[in-house]
Amino acid sequence: MKSSSLLLLAFLGVCGVQGASGFRICAFNLHHFGDSKSKKSNVMHTLARIIARCDVCLLQEVRDNKEKALPQLLHRLNSYDPEHEYEALASERLGRSASYQEQYVFVYRTDTVTVTGHYQYPDNRPGDVDAFSREPFVVRFKAPNTDIKEFVLIPQHTTPANTTKELDALYDVLQHVRTMWKTENVMLLGDFNADCGYLAKKNRKNVRLITEKNLFWLIPEKTDTTVRSTTSCTYDRIVVHGERFARAIVPLSASPFNFQREYRLSEDQALEVSDHYPVEVLLKNVANKFSLTFLPLFVLSQFVFQMLT
Ligand SMILES: *[C@@H]1O[C@H](CO)[C@@H](O)[C@H](O)[C@H]1NC(C)=O
Repeated sequence: MKSSSLLLLAFLGVCGVQGASGFRICAFNLHHFGDSKSKKSNVMHTLARIIARCDVCLLQEVRDNKEKALPQLLHRLNSYDPEHEYEALASERLGRSASYQEQYVFVYRTDTVTVTGHYQYPDNRPGDVDAFSREPFVVRFKAPNTDIKEFVLIPQHTTPANTTKELDALYDVLQHVRTMWKTENVMLLGDFNADCGYLAKKNRKNVRLITEKNLFWLIPEKTDTTVRSTTSCTYDRIVVHGERFARAIVPLSASPFNFQREYRLSEDQALEVSDHYPVEVLLKNVANKFSLTFLPLFVLSQFVFQMLT
């Protein structure tokens, strides 16, 4: 009886820790999201399921010229997951040519997170002339239930032909944002094209986002973030700045979300949704940290107590 209740206690403890799942941040390249995808009900359903996993989700390659697809996605998401309310914050249309433009869009749960500021990185800064094809739309968030409490997200979808230069320039954006908002808690995320033919091994030494200290690349090398079975590249990335932020991450939680396998789709069905997997990471919740610290002590004290009685 005594040992079985102890076992039960330990079991509940483990469940409790795993159940408190953390705060999820995602980055998803939707591969040309616009009018035509929004008309495919199965695609919209899958997108809603994927985005509903996240407290904050960065969408890339939003090409919604008619401005109907994004509101539809938000509507779909809110009816799919009525337990939360989702809102979206979108950048301007960004791109070097008028005929090809994309928006960065942050979709977030209003009950777990608040937007406290946003900033469109300019096209031309002195000494930094037009580094990006799609300048980062930087957003600051407050999430009271997370260990980190406040953080900034710097999104980037690089242009494959200029990946090395754009990734290096992200380091300047990071410094600018740290100074402007007096914060160290910065995460950079998105489809960096940071692998295979677009970022050659020999060029990595020229990318300060890789070589400078205090930056943690969370998606492991050799992780496949692409849907096609014929490609295996770690294009999509999540990078955090500062040890404080690194410690506020659930260890080893950063990974792609293989929605094809998870939702049992064929490769063609998955490719209708996107040619990328989303990448995700969990931030520790306040309660999480508490239970992880005190639960082993609690179990141990119960054990000692039972030994004594
Ligand atoms: C690469 O960057 C240069 C200058 O920064 C720009 O002129 C060029 O158009 C870029 N290439 C693409 C494909 O965007």
